[in-house]
Amino acid sequence: MSRVLIVDDEPNLRRVLGREVCAMGHGVKEAEEAEGALRILESMEVDLVLLDVNLPGRSGLDLLPELRQRWPRTEVIVMTGHGSVETAVQALKAGAYDYQEKPCHLDELEQVLNKALEKRSLAERSDALLDSASSAAIEWGGSPAMEQVQADLLKVAPTDVSVLILGETGTGKELVARELHARSGVASGPFVAINCGAIAPTLVESLLFGHEKGAFTGAVRRKLGLAEVASGGTLFLDEVAELPLDLQVKLLRFLQEGEVLRVGATTPVEVQVRIVAATHVDVDAAVESGEFREDLYYRLGTVRLELPPLRDRGGDVPLLVERFLQEMVARGRPAKIFSPEALGIFETYAWPGNVRELRMIVERLSILSDGDTIEAADVERRLGRGRGAGSGLSLMTLREAEQKLVVLALRRFRGDKPAAAKALGVALKTLYNKIKSFDLDVDAIVAGG
Ligand SMILES: Nc1ncnc2c1ncn2[C@@H]1O[C@H](COP(=O)(O)OP(=O)(O)OP(=O)(O)O)[C@@H](O)[C@H]1O
Ligand SMILES: [Mg+2]
Repeated sequence: MSRVLIVDDEPNLRRVLGREVCAMGHGVKEAEEAEGALRILESMEVDLVLLDVNLPGRSGLDLLPELRQRWPRTEVIVMTGHGSVETAVQALKAGAYDYQEKPCHLDELEQVLNKALEKRSLAERSDALLDSASSAAIEWGGSPAMEQVQADLLKVAPTDVSVLILGETGTGKELVARELHARSGVASGPFVAINCGAIAPTLVESLLFGHEKGAFTGAVRRKLGLAEVASGGTLFLDEVAELPLDLQVKLLRFLQEGEVLRVGATTPVEVQVRIVAATHVDVDAAVESGEFREDLYYRLGTVRLELPPLRDRGGDVPLLVERFLQEMVARGRPAKIFSPEALGIFETYAWPGNVRELRMIVERLSILSDGDTIEAADVERRLGRGRGAGSGLSLMTLREAEQKLVVLALRRFRGDKPAAAKALGVALKTLYNKIKSFDLDVDAIVAGG
């Protein structure tokens, strides 16, 4: 029997929902606000959280990242107000499995709930399987920069050296960290992630290294730190440049000695763990300005993997779009496609949020667009909303856009002109004319030029 936690401040709704979820054959726990929910999650295993957005005090959206960080295996379905699409999108972005508009349709809720629980039990049945599935999830594409990362990753993964992953937000640093783990000698061990930027500085040390009973007020029993929990596996230090300086010293000592000193302890414990770290900041600049210790930087970055921003990944956008559409279909959403013009707009967009943003927009568009085909107008309407024009669509002429599309189609179909013409919706002869008028070198395009 699965355990479902309903977090909502409305007692009637909790009662009704609770009864329904019970009738679906699950165990139910209830909380009326964030703190209560956390207490329950800390005290027992919960498979799924039904989370209301509008809670008194801490909102559901605010709580969500903490839930995903601390209980990554527990799926969350967010309950949003009617028509609040932005909230829904935010929730999905923060890692919710899905969202339900209030008032909930019970049939729909049951479906979503079962799917989420199925995902959870699959994950439990075979962590190894899930790991290999999620590592297969990296779309490498064809850009030289990503190919370099992939080649380096394959070489470094089986070794025990530390790896530092660099790249802007949303470029796939965490995916790469998981891939490193999946291909390492410690793949059967745990993969433990800690986001150094998301935890209060005062808590980082005990979270990372643990504490002894009585080490500080509230330390009622001994608690293992994440470094020890990761023993025999991989410790992923996300946003490592955000670590306070005094902890950087302690981390360096841990890396050098292979020993953990729990807060309040006098003797260290030996811990063997593969270290992977990541940051989106410019580390060289952070070292220069003294915010990041140079010795730690060298110790962590024996090998550096630098993920390129999406705008430098050439023709990868359509590949990624296709991948995300397929993933949505696998999650039970209707199959949609993008018109070539719509894809063309994507290709010229600046992508400040990189692959994550692309994924979110694909998801948003496929939820919100009416027909089976997502058109350029849909994309224009949804892209860059609330964002200055300068950082959004970069302007280009129609002719330039056309040329880009032709190049894109030729590359995608590896120079197969009939196939490219078909995808572009023009006659083969028209394609030949375009190639001539743009003076394109098809062989060079296929070769990646
Ligand atoms: N190469 C890729 N192939 C497929 N999906 C990707 C790829 N890169 C990123 N994504 C998608 O983007 C999301 C964000 O990736 P990830 O969390 O690894 O980014 P990040 O670099 O750690 O970002 P941040 O610095 O904001 O933490 C992933 O959940 C995944 O959906
Ligand atoms: Mg990340």
